[in-house]
Amino acid sequence: MAQTTSSVALFYTLVACLKVATVTAVKTITLGQDIDYPPYAFQTADGELAGFGKDFADGMSAMCEDIDIKVVKESWANCWSSEGGGRLGAKLANASDTSLDGCMTYTHGQGVRDTFADFTDAMLNDNKAAGLLTLLDSDGKPKVTGLSDLSGKTLIDVGGWAPTSDGLSIVTNKCTSEKYSPDYEVVVANGDIANDVAMQMLRDGEGDAIFIYADQVEEYSACPAGSTWNCTLWEGFGTEVAYVQTGQFGHAMNGTTLSLSRKGSGIRELLRPCMQSFMLTKEYYDICVKHDLAGVCYANEFFGDDATVGGKYDLPTNKQTGDCSDGYCPCPVTSDDSPPVAGAPLETDPTSGSTTVLVGTSLLMTSSIMWLSASLM
Ligand SMILES: *[C@@H]1O[C@H](CO)[C@@H](O)[C@H](O)[C@H]1NC(C)=O
Ligand SMILES: *[C@@H]1O[C@H](CO)[C@@H](O)[C@H](O)[C@H]1NC(C)=O
Ligand SMILES: *[C@@H]1O[C@H](CO)[C@@H](O)[C@H](O)[C@H]1NC(C)=O
Repeated sequence: MAQTTSSVALFYTLVACLKVATVTAVKTITLGQDIDYPPYAFQTADGELAGFGKDFADGMSAMCEDIDIKVVKESWANCWSSEGGGRLGAKLANASDTSLDGCMTYTHGQGVRDTFADFTDAMLNDNKAAGLLTLLDSDGKPKVTGLSDLSGKTLIDVGGWAPTSDGLSIVTNKCTSEKYSPDYEVVVANGDIANDVAMQMLRDGEGDAIFIYADQVEEYSACPAGSTWNCTLWEGFGTEVAYVQTGQFGHAMNGTTLSLSRKGSGIRELLRPCMQSFMLTKEYYDICVKHDLAGVCYANEFFGDDATVGGKYDLPTNKQTGDCSDGYCPCPVTSDDSPPVAGAPLETDPTSGSTTVLVGTSLLMTSSIMWLSASLM
């Protein structure tokens, strides 16, 4: 009898232990974000943390019982630093600092980022394009042309931000279809708002062009309420500054991720199952629509005709039309009036061989027509 009682007691003790175990299995994960990366990470006019990343994390916490994601304001520099060509920021690098497990909305880059950090899978299939931003003179002519192989130039890298400067050796020039010369110098723009620092350096002539996200100027010049950057610096798109390269993909392995964390920290693995389930929900669809990102979300059953419509920033430069006045320069016609090098992709066009027998204006016209048809592809 006594034995039975103690067995029963033992049974309840075990049940109690299991319950405790279930409760303590809720894992709190602290993810940081800064506030100058709309629509991914920003603050509202009232100073509340906001963005696609925060909404995604909050949605996961509400849905999955085993994790609770705490989103905190963190300086990007504590997450990822441009020092020494790129490495983890001080807080994430420090294994005994448990106040931060990872940082949100980083693009899963090739090169240094992939070497030194663990990334979750992507929340967005946006594999963001890079570009080259330069100054326009009073005639609207860019300081660096789209044809430049960058040799002898000084490039400004936005410290801590993708595309990382080693991405310049990965992407191709969209006017010549060639890789860049290795013969350029890189200066790094560091500061609280690194994009502002880079833009000021460009305007001050400290570099010839910035290697930067191709949609950065569009995002910053929109200047929404709560903007933390200096909106004045981003005025003059198409009159003072313009992109001479856009649509440079290939510097990234995946799109915008939920978390960048220390290699081997296990954070990615903890987040993965819930992330995958969350991306199948209507809530995921709703936040995609809310942030105007439906076109680059991973479509689930709740998506309708949310077509992928990228902006001009996603177009390779040889598909840009007009002049530089919209902020996106097309590939230049070379000084000797040879056809637009926009024709570069026509290498693969079976009819392109015949144009070589034409001369003068008809050559230009033919290639413009072909160029036009190429841009409709
Ligand atoms: C790492 O973090 C711990 C805990 O916050 C702190 O005491 C220590 O000073 C940090 N180390 C460095 C090198 O910052
Ligand atoms: C990129 O993210 C998607 C969606 O989360 C995932 O299915 C895919 O495996 C990821 N690819 C890489 C290379 O990490
Ligand atoms: C913003 O940038 C402009 C142009 O460089 C500068 O004149 C102004 O002082 C800056 N404002 C702030 C608050 O830094």
